[in-house]
Amino acid sequence: PFELRLARSQRVVMVSAQQTAAQALNAAGIFVPTSCEQGICGTCLTRVLEGECEHRDQYLEPEEQAANDQFLPCCSRARSAALVLDL
Ligand code: FES
Repeated sequence: PFELRLARSQRVVMVSAQQTAAQALNAAGIFVPTSCEQGICGTCLTRVLEGECEHRDQYLEPEEQAANDQFLPCCSRARSAALVLDL
């Protein structure tokens, strides 16, 4: 499990091991559009302000993944205890 801290809406959303970050956000009433839910289409791309992502998508280039400033919440997770998102 890890935490999503939402910078703009000032909210904290926990992501359990059983759900994706996008599912946790949508369950908390924060709409993140999704389509493929497999890290391929890029629809759910979200800006990351702080924290270390565990990228599991096939959409971002390796350099983009390494930059650690965006992630795909339909499949990617956090390596750090929390990610701060621009939501
Ligand atoms: Fe397609 Fe996330 S919904 S990459």
